[in-house]
Amino acid sequence: MSLREKIDLTKLPKHIAIIMDGNGRWAKKRLLPRIIGHTNGVKTVKRIVELARELNIQVLTLYAFSTENWQRPKDEVSGIMTLLKTYLKSELENMIENQVSFRVIGDISKMSAEIQTELKNAIEKTKDMKGLVLNIALNYGSRQEILMACKNLIDKGIKNPTEQDLSDSLYTKGLPDPDLLIRTSGEMRISNFLLWQIAYTEIYITDVLWPDFKDEEFYKAIVEFQKRERRFGKI
Ligand code: IPE
Ligand code: IPE
Ligand code: MG
Repeated sequence: MSLREKIDLTKLPKHIAIIMDGNGRWAKKRLLPRIIGHTNGVKTVKRIVELARELNIQVLTLYAFSTENWQRPKDEVSGIMTLLKTYLKSELENMIENQVSFRVIGDISKMSAEIQTELKNAIEKTKDMKGLVLNIALNYGSRQEILMACKNLIDKGIKNPTEQDLSDSLYTKGLPDPDLLIRTSGEMRISNFLLWQIAYTEIYITDVLWPDFKDEEFYKAIVEFQKRERRFGKI
């Protein structure tokens, strides 16, 4: 039986979040510049979005750029921004055709005006799409997000907030919490990603580098997820 056939289609995760790590190491192994790793990482993004659609996953959240990633060399940051622009331009039609609803989590006000325009355009044009919600984390940091949520609550005059009030003040408002968090490239850390939302998420870490994370690796993560017993504190 193939891995794909092992997936129980009645028990799919509703929301999969991915820390797409290892582009730099993928390039380094091949003695190539880091940006080539990112370019190949984008190919994986396209494929995983396709697979998530095929499986009817409701939400896919991809960590593309963290609040800490600005500390990388200038040419790497600008290279990543260029790739993002190209991705948006080349994929928008495809998203519309396939009913993908494109969204962003993170503070995009720090990105260039041109990218903000592209992002807003993609969000606007796909806002009524009924298929996969593709959530891209850009200039995203979970501590920044939680702090922003607290400030929102204060501004609204909510003195005694509930967990729901806080959830509703996050970028992920209205989305189910991730059921499965995947991190590629073996690092055993969360790197400031979705700290509030992953309270009961199943974590799957693989040594495979993001540009090498293809069909079988994605299916493996889902099969592994389906073997877990989620207890949510109960017995
Ligand atoms: C992930 O790959 C992509 C981003 C953080 C933008 P890395 O660039 O972190 O790759 P490694 O961790 O250096 O291998
Ligand atoms: C996490 O990867 C951020 C993204 C995948 C966008 P990093 O490579 O930035 O994380 P650290 O530095 O290893 O924690
Ligand atoms: Mg990394």
